[in-house]
Amino acid sequence: MAKPRRIFVCTDCGTEAPAWTGRCPGCSAWATMAEAERSARRPSRLRGGSGMDGGSNLQPLHQVDPDLALPFPVGVDEVDRVLGGGLTPGSVTLLAGEPGVGKSTLTLQMATAVAGAGSSVVLVAGEEAPSQVAARAGRLGPIPAGLLVVDDVSVDTAVTAMTHRQPQLLIIDSIQTMRDDSVDTAPGSISQVKAVAGRLIDGAKATGVSLLIIGHVTKEGSIAGPRLLEHMVDTVVTFDGDGHGSLRFLRAAKHRFGPTSEIGIFEMTGSGLQAVPDPSRRYLQDRRPSLPGSVVAPALAGRRPFLAEVQALVAPVTGRSGQMAVQGLVGRRVDLVAAVLASRAGYRAGTADVFLSVAGGATVDEPAGDLAVALALASAIDGAPIAPDVVACGEVGLGGELRTVPMLELRLQEAYRMGFRTAVVPPSAGDGPTGLRLIRAGTLSEALALTPQELDSAR
Ligand code: TYD
Ligand code: MG
Repeated sequence: MAKPRRIFVCTDCGTEAPAWTGRCPGCSAWATMAEAERSARRPSRLRGGSGMDGGSNLQPLHQVDPDLALPFPVGVDEVDRVLGGGLTPGSVTLLAGEPGVGKSTLTLQMATAVAGAGSSVVLVAGEEAPSQVAARAGRLGPIPAGLLVVDDVSVDTAVTAMTHRQPQLLIIDSIQTMRDDSVDTAPGSISQVKAVAGRLIDGAKATGVSLLIIGHVTKEGSIAGPRLLEHMVDTVVTFDGDGHGSLRFLRAAKHRFGPTSEIGIFEMTGSGLQAVPDPSRRYLQDRRPSLPGSVVAPALAGRRPFLAEVQALVAPVTGRSGQMAVQGLVGRRVDLVAAVLASRAGYRAGTADVFLSVAGGATVDEPAGDLAVALALASAIDGAPIAPDVVACGEVGLGGELRTVPMLELRLQEAYRMGFRTAVVPPSAGDGPTGLRLIRAGTLSEALALTPQELDSAR
């Protein structure tokens, strides 16, 4: 082993520096540089790590088999959709999420599906005893013979398993529990996480084993591991809850081999994570459409449309001055819409408390929700409900103009599918699906001036 030398590593972004600095030279964060030790050896990312001595690794590109890079399905449909087909052999994927969100459960479901399809899978269980893993797996379904478990958290064991067993998939649960004996700090520390990850990544590249690494993040995102790892791995997948409910969202934040636009939606049930194929139905199931302040917006989760109910409530002031509380929307965007609503259309909540939220814990973080926010707020201020089968979709500009949004056609199809028959849309909107009446409004004021009769689809 080469003699370790001192370096400083940013706990946020992983940037290294030879001396301590108050501010990270990479990401400019303050007070994030921490001292770490590192082996002088730089891990090689080349397959086999043997370098190009004598040119023996050089090969004509046209003779390289492109199918070697094809992903294999992990057998959990939502995961395969998010990854664009599955995991690529030899690739390294980080699954990051808060403790308790369901990372172990999701990976166990993937492990049983891959092993159930006849491949071999190794699960390095650093957090739970094999008997606990077996109990959990048993609750999820039959356990295939090709699923192997080991509770040894030494990185040597994991690398040996890759080399000798050559499994299709190796899962590390979690990186924070793993240990490299040549590094002199506790598991979970920056230097441990970095050393372990480096060895595991080298192992995956050398053997062609797909590696899935679980990493915990706290609400503050302060644990060193996952942030540091993001730069080392091929793919970063995040798994988040909806704050209070049982829904879980899987997103690819970085993906060397496929799209980052897809979102997988799951529900945590008594028998593991189940896909939620129809989020619109879920979000709208308990809606009471005749209430003032309720407007449905066709939103996008990745490239998948879903309907979200935007709700506004204007209530008597409880504190000294009126406040605005926002949930499931982007606060600054809501401020902008409220300002345009006040100065271009004369709608003011006055000295009241204003609450805006998206029902069911859904999130609408795109400008396409602006018009629904404006109409919901105006409806709440007026105390006048909007016809139940109307959706509203459009970005609100600072001039009060309504502007087009991406993939409007797809959103309108979803609205029609869910039984909505009228849509208020920007003037440039195309035709929309047959059976859905489009009302094109050039400005926010025009949209607000629509009478209940005009919005009533029965006309
Ligand atoms: P877990 O996968 O252990 O989360 P993580 O690995 O991200 O820390 O799951 C967390 C929670 O999920 C735990 O509180 C128990 C619950 N759970 C269910 O509700 N249903 C199930 O079938 C399983 C396996 C877990
Ligand atoms: Mg776990």
